[in-house]
Amino acid sequence: MKNENIYLTEFNQQKLKEYLNTIQLGRNFVYIESVDSTNTQAKLLAQQGATNGTVVLAEHQTNGKGRLGRQWCSPKGAGLWFSILLRPQISPMQISGITLVTGLAVCKAIRKYTKLNALIKWPNDVIIGNKKLCGILTEMSAKTDKIDYVVVGVGINVNTLEFDEEIAQKATSLKKETGKTINREEFLTVVLGEIEECISLYLSNPNNGISKEYIQLCATLGRQVTVSRGNNNIQGKAVTVTSNGDLVVETNEGKPILVNSGEVIVQGIY
Ligand code: BTN
Repeated sequence: MKNENIYLTEFNQQKLKEYLNTIQLGRNFVYIESVDSTNTQAKLLAQQGATNGTVVLAEHQTNGKGRLGRQWCSPKGAGLWFSILLRPQISPMQISGITLVTGLAVCKAIRKYTKLNALIKWPNDVIIGNKKLCGILTEMSAKTDKIDYVVVGVGINVNTLEFDEEIAQKATSLKKETGKTINREEFLTVVLGEIEECISLYLSNPNNGISKEYIQLCATLGRQVTVSRGNNNIQGKAVTVTSNGDLVVETNEGKPILVNSGEVIVQGIY
């Protein structure tokens, strides 16, 4: 990371406590200066009995984890790198819904706090224009059909100005988009407020699935996509997202297919 980011200030837990307006989310708040991954730390705390709604935030991650086995670049003081511990009473099949609604919640928080036109790249990246601003990685522990705990890891590029070369063309931050330094503590309270609301709504009736709001904010829909299936690449147009979060793609041969995970390349977005 280049030294353009040296103006950054330290996260102030006291300020967060003053602003926080959630019922449960973040009331148990664990702040760590530097850790391998907040997801790993949250899983350890879960095994030691930490409560539903615990939030673990690190100023810096030495081994931040991304989806599909990738690394998540988490420089000191530049972003919000945190994990949420949940103990929901739903089936393991319904967990992907939690990830999708968390993406929706972060998207809504960004729109509310910055007025930027944040959108969702299916399933749960938050983007501005054609660049990524936030990624989410969910991990869970379940025995047969019962969930023990779920850890939802959220990484938001907030005040980053310089990205590593490999992601410089694909990533952006709130500071880059607004031209202003964002107050991380204030912004985090908006994010946690939206996440609490979206997750409670989803958990109150998981069978209702993904909301219309998600569809309205999903930038993937209406675009040409390439879906990788084993050794095959299937081309088509993303048409909608089903209530359980699968992407419906109409292939160039006119056949609808359901995509529930893996890599989808969206034309025009990184
Ligand atoms: C992605 O690849 O888009 C998911 C990135 C998730 C990154 C966050 S940062 C906080 C939490 N801890 C991790 O190690 N990963 C997640």
